[in-house]
Amino acid sequence: MKKILEVKNMSIDFIHKKTKINAVSKLSYELYENEVLGIVGESGCGKSISVMSLLGLLSSGASVEADHIQFKGRDINGLDVKALSKIRGQEIAIIFQEPMTSLNPLMTVGKQILEMYELHTDLSLKEALNETLEMMEKVGLKNVSSLYHAYPHELSGGMIQRIMIAMAMVCQPSILIADEPTTALDVTIQAQILNLMRALNQKSHTAILFISHDLGVIKEMCDRVMVMYLGYVVESGDVMAVLNAPYHPYTKGLLKSIPNPQKRHERLYSIPGRVPNMSDRPVGCPFCERCEKATEKCSAQLPELRELDKGHHVRCFYPEMASEMESL
Ligand SMILES: Nc1ncnc2c1ncn2[C@@H]1O[C@H](COP(=O)(O)OP(=O)(O)OP(=O)(O)O)[C@@H](O)[C@H]1O
Ligand SMILES: [Mg+2]
Repeated sequence: MKKILEVKNMSIDFIHKKTKINAVSKLSYELYENEVLGIVGESGCGKSISVMSLLGLLSSGASVEADHIQFKGRDINGLDVKALSKIRGQEIAIIFQEPMTSLNPLMTVGKQILEMYELHTDLSLKEALNETLEMMEKVGLKNVSSLYHAYPHELSGGMIQRIMIAMAMVCQPSILIADEPTTALDVTIQAQILNLMRALNQKSHTAILFISHDLGVIKEMCDRVMVMYLGYVVESGDVMAVLNAPYHPYTKGLLKSIPNPQKRHERLYSIPGRVPNMSDRPVGCPFCERCEKATEKCSAQLPELRELDKGHHVRCFYPEMASEMESL
């Protein structure tokens, strides 16, 4: 499979009250054509900023450094806003959790899709209009000629997310970044949107970088997954390997805290302790303060991310295979 993105040693810092706070460290990964790569982890671990940084979408107080960010063989690390926005329009599309805020409330949804064609293709108005209606049908919207004239507030959350996906697909991007695209939707609509994204991925070979805090959704959607904790990837690999036979105590804790309908009477497990602030991140392993297995070495030294099985990487001195992980 062809590699389309390679991020090598990315770190992201924020300046806060004149001190530099490191929010993401040593982030390296590859994304291949046609694959869905998940990023999972608790709130604040750095999922969103890790992808926003690719497109220069972070606030001005942020600084991003990397050995390289290779997109289709070209280093896009440090490109200016104009060059990055060109890539964003045409090659890498992004959809967010709160789609409503990304749409113009004063323009009909159809016109907003049409504008994407006008901006990024050479089609005539008539052709662009036809393509717009066709794209609306492709993403599963009904009565598209009348829906074209609706304003965002007239649509449900699920319909809005379909409009966002339609806009993202106009330029047939090589990468679709989906940042918790279904968190705001109810469960049945969530399933429909996930199916739609999976279908688009299979039909158009668009690679997807898929962010979620929900391991069930990650399991449904992704081929590979990276588990993040406090700005570090702590485990990564094929989704089945990571979720069925995790090595890292944090991944195991995340899996254990998923409610199990068969054990409704039992208390829900939660990982002991709380996530520290980025500003008082331990010097050693980011998870050491909450880990039952931690030793002095863990608090003093950061473990490297190392490959234990083929393609399965773990950042832990004492990785342990889960003996009897219950499947999700
Ligand atoms: N503009 C900013 N200034 C300072 N710190 C920031 C800024 N944006 C993000 N951060 C910090 O970076 C860290 C990672 O944020 P990010 O939004 O990537 O988290 P996340 O994993 O996407 O969380 P969530 O699941 O809640 O969306 C957080 O600790 C946050 O406080
Ligand atoms: Mg986020």
